[in-house]
Amino acid sequence: LGPPESDPHRRFNEEIDGMNRACWAGLAALILGFLTFAERTGAADADGAGIPASAAEYKKLVAQGADVVKKGVEAKDKKGLTKARGAALMIAAYSQYSDKGGPAGDRATVRDAAIKLAEAIKANKLDDARKQADGIADLKADPKAKPDPVEIMKLAKGQPGEVMRLLNATPVGGLGVEAHFKKLTAIKKEIPEGQLSDEFLNEAFMVAAMAALLRDNPPAKNPKQFVKFAEDTHGHAVRLAEAIKKKDGVGSNQALYELTKSCNRCHDKYRD
Ligand code: HEC
Repeated sequence: LGPPESDPHRRFNEEIDGMNRACWAGLAALILGFLTFAERTGAADADGAGIPASAAEYKKLVAQGADVVKKGVEAKDKKGLTKARGAALMIAAYSQYSDKGGPAGDRATVRDAAIKLAEAIKANKLDDARKQADGIADLKADPKAKPDPVEIMKLAKGQPGEVMRLLNATPVGGLGVEAHFKKLTAIKKEIPEGQLSDEFLNEAFMVAAMAALLRDNPPAKNPKQFVKFAEDTHGHAVRLAEAIKKKDGVGSNQALYELTKSCNRCHDKYRD
């Protein structure tokens, strides 16, 4: 004869059982939660650090950068040379941060060449610079090039302002990115599909790579907050690029809005 339902021992045992089950369930949920969290942050790390340019898009970014370098070097004036320096640094950044842009060794080769190119411009070796820029988009992979990230700004003796100035309006020596963004933020709710252009996508990639470059090269003074600002800008620019690629006008509008706010937060603190 088994104990009746009301047997206090049995009830107690069942309660313990129930508690055990609840505990295990809780622990399992905790572990599962942690695993999904780890997976998510892992994924965010994997594609969160770089820029989501495909191999073809990466090639285009490099080719356009090389074009800016050549034109700037040919102009030979201060405005042109500043632009050329910025564009050379950006070719290095595209190469380092386009983690979907083809073999890492190929990109490392272009990156190292872009750092040399930036140095040649700084040293005013303009004939060399023009020749180097000419072939940079089609360089053959150098097996000695190391795919690990390098300190681009330190190696090329670059400053944040040198890349940032590319975002300026064209008359003052930039590529008009900021002005284009301003025009598009005036559109409410949804950026029309016709405006989700390849040019806009390139700009989003440019800002994303630029932010990654700043993130990895903070100033000596208050570096932590600078890194945080640059990470925010990078994230919004990546989201913008993805929304433009998907022809998502509402998503692009939101990401662009957040992106421009993030620019200002850093400027309030770090731009004099
Ligand atoms: C992490 C910090 C940071 C973020 C984020 C940032 N900037 Fe800047 N920006 C700077 C600093 C620092 C300078 C000043 C550099 C100098 O003068 O040497 C600057 C300068 C500029 C300039 C050049 C102004 C001039 O002197 O001619 C432009 C244009 C610019 N930023 C646009 C942007 C835009 C657009 C964004 C967002 C998409 C952005 N910046 C995001 C730090 C930042």
